[in-house]
Amino acid sequence: MKLAERTQHVAGSFTIGISMMAREMMSQGKDVLNLSVGEPDFKVPERAKHAAVQALELDLTKYDKVPGVLELREAICDKLKTENGLDYTPDQIVVSNGAKQAIMNTLLAVMDPGDEVLLPVPYWTSYPEIVKLCGGTPVYAVPVDTVNYKVTPADLEKVVSEKTRILIFNNPSNPAGTVYNEEEVRAIGEFCLEKGLWLLSDEIYEKFCFVDPCFSVAATSPEVKDITIVVNGLSKSVAMTGLRVGYTASNTKIATAISKMQSHLTSHTSTLSQWVGHDALRYCGEEIDAQIDIYRRRREVMLKKLKTLPDITFLEPDGAFYVMVDFGAYRDKIEYNGSFSVALCRRILEETEVAIVPGIAFGLDNYARIAYVLEEKRLEEGLERIEKFLRSLK
Ligand SMILES: Cc1ncc(COP(=O)(O)O)c(C=O)c1O
Repeated sequence: MKLAERTQHVAGSFTIGISMMAREMMSQGKDVLNLSVGEPDFKVPERAKHAAVQALELDLTKYDKVPGVLELREAICDKLKTENGLDYTPDQIVVSNGAKQAIMNTLLAVMDPGDEVLLPVPYWTSYPEIVKLCGGTPVYAVPVDTVNYKVTPADLEKVVSEKTRILIFNNPSNPAGTVYNEEEVRAIGEFCLEKGLWLLSDEIYEKFCFVDPCFSVAATSPEVKDITIVVNGLSKSVAMTGLRVGYTASNTKIATAISKMQSHLTSHTSTLSQWVGHDALRYCGEEIDAQIDIYRRRREVMLKKLKTLPDITFLEPDGAFYVMVDFGAYRDKIEYNGSFSVALCRRILEETEVAIVPGIAFGLDNYARIAYVLEEKRLEEGLERIEKFLRSLK
């Protein structure tokens, strides 16, 4: 029996794949340092955790509204207003099973099969696959500036076509940690407006900004806000990756279309998770900010330690919690057939028990992505193991 064509064209998630290998090794008793997955290691704040128990006790266990529990959508609107200067009403918010589904919902709502979707390189590994699942074609925009990897209108101009429907803009970016400033963000918004494109602004790492705060493209003008679908969620900022709460904020017409898509896919995310999200947004701001400070320190430790590794360079990240490290100098020291970064990361995992993600997952095969999601001592140990491995290749 034949499987659907799309199972051939859509790749599995590299990040989930490598992380599963790491977990498997851990279950065999190995001391694996998992620096692969984009999952903060802190716990959901107590008050927010309790909201799930309370929701169960109150029997809030039935189907609820497709776009999400109203109180959560109100809390999201307040957050967007106070933190991002954005005015949305609850009917413009759709809560989904993580930001991942929010992205899929959005593409299903705004593009047709055959349409093209612009993706700046390096891109989050799931974007091209979600685009393909929706019948679209990912089109890659490679920035001229390969120091900061910031895409500009001139870079986008080279690849935009009649078929382009939407740009997926990830700020701060996974994997590069790039944070665009207000002027750069404004230029991206104006480009989309001029070309008649939708703009999906994935702001899931907005809390993880270590130099300047993140500026939402939707805040640049009412016209840009109208074409923008802001995607955000609580997986990273509240460390509730497994609870699956993401959302879109958009104009009412798009929100209604997104909600219609979701009504036939998942109805809505778990009501218990939504109540955890509600209490996290309403009552746990201080705890969340304190966790971000821990990440700020880890970033410094990482950058300092990385400077001691032989023959590598890296993109200095201003945000998110990843570093893209260029291992290109080791190309002739590693045997590979196909992808260099896959072979490199496999050897690093097998020989040093440190899990990092091959850069090919993000469109840059000379690189690997290291997530600083463990405590400082463990991070240092991870880099020391990699350093030893690299020195053994010389
Ligand atoms: C850029 C980006 N967008 C979206 C997501 C999806 O997050 P969620 O867990 O909310 O589905 C991730 C997760 O790694 C991500 O890195």
